[in-house]
Amino acid sequence: MLAQPEYQPQIITLEDPEKVAYFVVTQIIALVNRKANAVMTIPTGKTPERAYELLVEAVRKGEVDFDKVILRMLDEYQWLKRNDPRTFQNQLRKLLINPIHFPNIQFQTINSYPETDSPKEADRYEKLISATPSDIVILGIGQNGHIGFNEPLSPFDSRTRVVQLSDNTLAANKKDIQRHGQYTPEYAITQGIGNILEADRIVMMATGESKADIIRQALKGEINTDVPASALRTRQNVLFVLDSAAASQL
Ligand code: GLP
Repeated sequence: MLAQPEYQPQIITLEDPEKVAYFVVTQIIALVNRKANAVMTIPTGKTPERAYELLVEAVRKGEVDFDKVILRMLDEYQWLKRNDPRTFQNQLRKLLINPIHFPNIQFQTINSYPETDSPKEADRYEKLISATPSDIVILGIGQNGHIGFNEPLSPFDSRTRVVQLSDNTLAANKKDIQRHGQYTPEYAITQGIGNILEADRIVMMATGESKADIIRQALKGEINTDVPASALRTRQNVLFVLDSAAASQL
């Protein structure tokens, strides 16, 4: 890989997952209060769930106004029916979109069961989002260092595309994925690392001991495609918000 500049992300270590969620929500509120029509890419997974609860409370209390915000999905499984509760879209609707009555037209979604085919759906989404890069991308991290569904070996300039999930990811997601039915998705559409890196600001959330080793690799290991999250050190304005367990190997 060509030599590239390396930057040190800002790292905030807090006592527990509750404080991580609270801190990230404070960042989101500050952004939206500064820029009412902010474009935000939002993730799924367990890590951000509490942050969404806190955000719903903040919107209900009138601490922030989401009327002009654009929310966009980071990634989505493929070949799950639209009404399947396991789709990331349905998870986001349940946790955030529905409780705040967020307008559908401002929610940019990836279809889990496209009318045409997945590569066409990926192209459609790429065209939609590349016109206006995100003001902020909120991320979690997979145990193999993936961001979105950019698995190890994803190029740092990759764009929105169909990806095959690694065995590691399938194993990590197994409990959630298999709870509701037989079919286990093996493919997904994800924003590429290139899409993520062109955002104005990136906030990585990680909590728990199971993330400690990969957080160390992402922040202290070599910058290369073996650890997709290490790409975050190739640009400025990146914030890692960690609880003490996730930061324990730094
Ligand atoms: C999934 C998602 C990622 C998420 C990761 C971690 O694979 N594609 O966007 O960051 O899992 O999830 P969790 O927060 O549940 O650990």
